[in-house]
Amino acid sequence: MRTQVGIVGAGPAGLLLAQMLHQRGIDSVVLEARSRAHIEARIRAGLLEQGSVETLHAAGVAGRLHREALVHHGLALRFGGRDHRLDLSALTGGKVVTIYGQQEAVKDMIAIRLDAGLPLHFGAEEVAIHDIATARPRITWREDGVARELDCDVIAGCDGFHGICRPSIPAADLTIFDRIYPFAWLGILSRSPPMSEELIYARHPEGFALATMRSTAISRLYLQCAPDEDLARWSDDRIWAALRTRLGDGLKDGPILQKGVTAMRSFVAEPMRHGRLFLAGDAAHIVPPTGAKGMNLAIADVRVLVRALEAFFAGRGEALMDSYSATCLDRVWKVQRFSWWMTQLLHRYDDHDAFEERIRRAELDYLAGSTAAQTTLAENYVGLPYAD
Ligand code: FAD
Ligand code: DHB
Repeated sequence: MRTQVGIVGAGPAGLLLAQMLHQRGIDSVVLEARSRAHIEARIRAGLLEQGSVETLHAAGVAGRLHREALVHHGLALRFGGRDHRLDLSALTGGKVVTIYGQQEAVKDMIAIRLDAGLPLHFGAEEVAIHDIATARPRITWREDGVARELDCDVIAGCDGFHGICRPSIPAADLTIFDRIYPFAWLGILSRSPPMSEELIYARHPEGFALATMRSTAISRLYLQCAPDEDLARWSDDRIWAALRTRLGDGLKDGPILQKGVTAMRSFVAEPMRHGRLFLAGDAAHIVPPTGAKGMNLAIADVRVLVRALEAFFAGRGEALMDSYSATCLDRVWKVQRFSWWMTQLLHRYDDHDAFEERIRRAELDYLAGSTAAQTTLAENYVGLPYAD
């Protein structure tokens, strides 16, 4: 089998890339290790920057998003027992953020691709990439026990943090930047109305908590926990009690539909290209979730990659492929900084002394009282401008 772009991974990065290439008349084949049912049920991100929504719209995959998503103009920071509202739209010249489950966007993109009869293979086993430093890279895998092979002009590594593409680059050619945080998030999805129309980010002496949502009937709630937290030790009652302590009495409980623990790390692999292999999304970088940036950064990478591949396949040369990594990394590091900053501002660190506590409290008080400080947070939160 042969294609122009072999795409490894059907997460937001791989599926959006396939769709944007298709719009430009460029062929691709998407290979996904897991089943369709598995990836459609995987509950992860929920908050889209304004530019991400515009990108999904331009890609022709935002029909249901526009009907069902929740548009937010502000958020609340809760500390010292009070809410401090940031009017994101007023601070950013009218920008908004949008709540739409990542798995809903994934479902929409899968349906559109399959309805168009375009190649998307689930359950691909033993996926491996070869000859990535040459002009004819290949992908091999097994499907229903049969060995398969795909010849490509370019391979897009969109296979997430635990995928095989990044480790296929010789270690000597990659520089890794990594930070692991001394806490994790316990996240639940519950059948209960959100406690507020907007998100609440809470800093509490017992630890961080976040109240977000998926709809007017479904809440998504997170609380800071130990990095190696054992979910079995968290009964539903204990989870609600901890959330109520940190978020306050307005919290409405209900049946818990799903729960999980998410580790927190910052990670960047440089460069994001090796020969004809281009990494995009979590395959190249991870941010701690506090700034809600992971999926948005994956979408931003894809925009840059599409422009580069469009120029290449139109015979306009490799200049944009050559600048792909540097263009992406400029945004990646700004978003890393913001995600790190939000994380350290809002979480409890067991090793912090009273001085550090007072500094954090002063920073929050400054934020609550300064339009300049709020503008900085808001312009990052709604999404920095794209390079193109
Ligand atoms: P992934 O979604 O990881 O997709 C990679 C795909 O590749 C997967 O389907 C995987 O099965 C497949 N794959 C892996 N290995 C192979 C292989 N060998 N062969 C073939 N396929 C393979 N981001 C936000 O923007 N906003 C948020 O609010 C937010 N909240 C989050 C909350 C939580 C609890 C978590 C865990 C993450 C959150 N994120 C958020 C981050 C976001 O979910 C990720 O950044 C996003 O999924 C990245 O998309 P991706 O396509 O790069 O990778
Ligand atoms: C969501 C997750 C985040 O990490 C965040 O900062 C905001 C919202 C969410 O799942 O809705």
